[in-house]
Amino acid sequence: MADQQAAMDPPLPAQPGFPLARPEVEALHAYSAPLEGRRGLLRLDFNENTVGPSPLVVEALRAIPPEQIAIYPEYDGLREAVIANLADRSHGRPGLARPLLSDQIGLLNGVDAAIHAIFHAYGDRGETLLTTSPTFGYYSPCAQMQGMAIEAIPYEGADFHFPLEAIRRSLLQPADGTPPRLLLLCNPNNPTGTRLAPEPILELAAAAPRTLVVVDELYEAFTGDSVLPLADFEATPNLLVLRSLAKTAGLAGLRMGFAIGHAAVVDRICRVTGPYDINSFAVAAAYAALQDQAYVEAYVAEVLRARDWIAQQLIRADVRHHVAGGNYLLLWPRGDVAAVDAALREAGILVRAMSGKPLIDGSLRVSLGTTEQMQRFWQAYTRIEGLIST
Ligand SMILES: Cc1ncc(COP(=O)(O)O)c(C=O)c1O
Repeated sequence: MADQQAAMDPPLPAQPGFPLARPEVEALHAYSAPLEGRRGLLRLDFNENTVGPSPLVVEALRAIPPEQIAIYPEYDGLREAVIANLADRSHGRPGLARPLLSDQIGLLNGVDAAIHAIFHAYGDRGETLLTTSPTFGYYSPCAQMQGMAIEAIPYEGADFHFPLEAIRRSLLQPADGTPPRLLLLCNPNNPTGTRLAPEPILELAAAAPRTLVVVDELYEAFTGDSVLPLADFEATPNLLVLRSLAKTAGLAGLRMGFAIGHAAVVDRICRVTGPYDINSFAVAAAYAALQDQAYVEAYVAEVLRARDWIAQQLIRADVRHHVAGGNYLLLWPRGDVAAVDAALREAGILVRAMSGKPLIDGSLRVSLGTTEQMQRFWQAYTRIEGLIST
């Protein structure tokens, strides 16, 4: 039997002098972002908070006793703090239609880790990830490392509308008759800012119970388009929502993300993570950040003011641009994109060239910070492009 099996196996690849990984991993390029040498520059390249977290976060980190560093982290109470924050109806926030229980909150080492865990738990070889294009760059490598096929539906028209009918078709009438295993929706979408109302997302999830519908709501604070206030995870257990403290709350360096959904789904995602993946500093910072919603609201309001200001300048200077949801916009330089990107860096300002991205090749994604920071950006941009700054 063993001999028979050996005869059927494909020949082993030539050994390169080190152990080969799974075939899917061998075919993969590491997901890398240009994250080095950014300190001290105006960071408009990763949609981060550009002013830092709440002072309460800094205070909480300073108060960590040395003993805590020697002890494994404890997470008790953090899920409840997340729920209290989501249910909070102050500052005009919608709260939750149905109370959440703590086992519906998965704590993860950033939303990137949540995405990785979702694919690890749910994505299998030969199954399909349905998503949009262009969208956040980490979904595809996670699908590839599981050996999944990717169906990425393009945004539509000059304003990058959400391709709702095409997504519905691929979800409900798949060509091979098998529904996609995962539907990943980034709302608002990074990098096009495309917004999608919560109702169609809930409808899609209800109509496709065999597909896990994941809504990446990283930038939801800038639009308010969350499915959470309407979601009923008992009726729609295949819906999962991702939130993070990286961007608006300013904890990108500490890593803290949440997967929110049906307890059984959250449990499966947490089965494929390590027991102490989130460190004690992130936990202490998260408590403080979740308690200072006023700080987050004030930061979001400032970014939205800055967005209005820069949009006005772009219109007046007749620069092709696209502004929608999220703390970022796209603009198309008249000059060579790489040269403009490099000249901005020379001026101490980082932005992100969207080279090679479908539909938006040739654009720069510019994160939005405060009005003062956008004024600094605009001064440099108009100089580099030879525009009249008004
Ligand atoms: C859409 C989207 N999802 C997830 C992430 C990663 O979030 P986190 O920093 O919580 O891992 C990013 C970061 O840029 C993002 O843009």
